[in-house]
Amino acid sequence: MRLLVTGGAGFIGANFVHQTVREHPEHDVTVLDALTYAGNEASLAEVRDRIRFVRGSVSDGELVDQLVGEADAVVHFAAESHNDNSLANPRPFLDTNVIGTYTLLEAVRRHGVRLHHISTDEVYGDLELDDPAKFTPETPYNPSSPYSSTKAASDLLVRAWVRSFGVHATISNCSNNYGPFQHVEKFIPRQITNVLTGRRPKLYGAGENVRDWIHVEDHNAAVHLILEKGRAGETYLIGADGEVNNRDVLSLVLELLGQPADAYDHVTDRAGHDLRYAIDAGKLRDELGWRPRYTNFREGLAATVDWYRANEAWWRPLKDQVEAAYSARGQ
Ligand code: NAD
Ligand code: TYD
Repeated sequence: MRLLVTGGAGFIGANFVHQTVREHPEHDVTVLDALTYAGNEASLAEVRDRIRFVRGSVSDGELVDQLVGEADAVVHFAAESHNDNSLANPRPFLDTNVIGTYTLLEAVRRHGVRLHHISTDEVYGDLELDDPAKFTPETPYNPSSPYSSTKAASDLLVRAWVRSFGVHATISNCSNNYGPFQHVEKFIPRQITNVLTGRRPKLYGAGENVRDWIHVEDHNAAVHLILEKGRAGETYLIGADGEVNNRDVLSLVLELLGQPADAYDHVTDRAGHDLRYAIDAGKLRDELGWRPRYTNFREGLAATVDWYRANEAWWRPLKDQVEAAYSARGQ
């Protein structure tokens, strides 16, 4: 299959490209990525001679039309992805997440090309800490932030293009990913690299918020399965029963880096901070037979800490600027 991967120089997209080259050499990969602050060509250095890389935006109608016309399927990762940035400046989230997805939908519609749309569990809003419920494909959309509302909008556009125009598309909504190549603005890499640069980790509020952590390799294996066996028009939730609160994640990071348990700061909480996410991945498991491989969070996190230790050249140039922006916001 000729695969067009949007956002392939970002965290999950780059890991997807690596996994595809390694485990699915039958696919021919083209990456379309705008190389925003979040994109990094260095994340693709090891596979650079096995893929085609095109720098450009998913909102560029002409370019998207040409690349989609040359593909058999599109896997759409490209997005503005960080909640805190969406609170500070929402506009790019509308441009990329909404208009970019619309632009791709019109192109796949014209060319009759298959689309897999990558989305987030955050479209469902949040759950109470003591609620036994988890998100299912039937949970009503109730997004909280500019980020999650633009992702919700993009999902609804995909659903509308399936129903109104018969576009062959699938959607997956995944929980919080961790692993190599994640930008240092995000929670886990931020805390690891804070310690590695002599800064104190920063916890929002009391740290009771729960995220349902999944290793990025497990997410991407599920995406490959959906590409192979997913039914057109369907939504699949991806999660690995990995609920942990932020305080406990941070404790583990501190322990793995040999730091005292109290060596961190409480900082201003995020506005509208979602309390808890939790995924019921029953449909993916039952229909497609997916199972996560990284079931030991401590081991996955230890490997991630090792990756950041070994790849300082990858993250070091980004670090000071990210921390300056956070500290200007009291975070
Ligand atoms: P990321 O911010 O690390 O990467 C995004 C990539 O998209 C970057 O390479 C960036 O350059 C590129 N990009 C941004 N705007 C673009 C545009 N207009 N045209 C082309 N490329 C553009 O994000 P990520 O964490 O890898 O997330 C990838 C996808 O997965 C997103 O759609 C996100 O909503 C979704 N998702 C992320 C998580 C998570 O935990 N990170 C969980 C569930 C779903
Ligand atoms: P983040 O990685 O931004 O992902 P998301 O907002 O998509 O869940 O944040 C994960 C959790 O960690 C979230 O509850 C906010 C919290 N957090 C901190 O406590 N400190 C930080 O420095 C950051 C970036 C996030």
